[in-house]
Amino acid sequence: MPVSRFMARQLARPRGLFGRLFLGGMLDRANLRGNALVHEVLALSPSDRVLEVGFGGGDLLVRLADTVSGGGVEGVELSLPMLRRVDARVRRRGLSGRVRLQEGAVDALPFEAGHFDCACSVNTVYFWPDLRRGLAELARVLRPGGRLVLGFGSDVAMRRAGYEAHGFRLYSMEEIERALRESGLRPTARERLEQARGAFFVSRSRRVA
Ligand SMILES: C[S@@+](CC[C@H](N)C(=O)[O-])C[C@H]1O[C@@H](n2cnc3c(N)ncnc32)[C@H](O)[C@@H]1O
Repeated sequence: MPVSRFMARQLARPRGLFGRLFLGGMLDRANLRGNALVHEVLALSPSDRVLEVGFGGGDLLVRLADTVSGGGVEGVELSLPMLRRVDARVRRRGLSGRVRLQEGAVDALPFEAGHFDCACSVNTVYFWPDLRRGLAELARVLRPGGRLVLGFGSDVAMRRAGYEAHGFRLYSMEEIERALRESGLRPTARERLEQARGAFFVSRSRRVA
């Protein structure tokens, strides 16, 4: 079914009453399997310092926080309603001590160079104003050898559902890997998840030392 203009705007940046009350839960339900795969591909150690950009409803962020008992999780999100929702969720689970959330965007991350062991972002590349700038910024905040895991919908399936007409930038796995190489990262693995709405891709890379 083609995506509506309203939903496309909400996905890009959840806002208003609808964003606050409904979108986080919808995202979490729709992206459960994709988030589980990204979590698995990250292969976190309890002591890792990990960053998630564009965490939306927080399903993956909570999984990360459950895993890194000795390290820490930082989250950066453009949408204030999502930030507030996930902040409350983290508190309810008693995970505040290991999680810090900030409003911000992928192209200007508020961290020092080399701060993280790993970073991830799911279903956000479509909205980045400049793919290479976002990737270079993620590479900057990773330590040398640190890993980046990106999850994103197949460009073919999303084009078919009409996302491009709403300004989504769609990429094939090859285009993402080319951009990773040009941004100081080396692709190391690819995964593919078949879903009713089309394939979901996961790319893992490492920051070049
Ligand atoms: C489609 S939702 C995906 C949320 C979640 N990662 C998931 O897969 O369920 C995209 C999220 O990325 C955020 N976002 C969009 N552009 C961003 C950017 N440039 N920097 C950081 N977050 C961004 C939006 O606010 C939104 O919460």
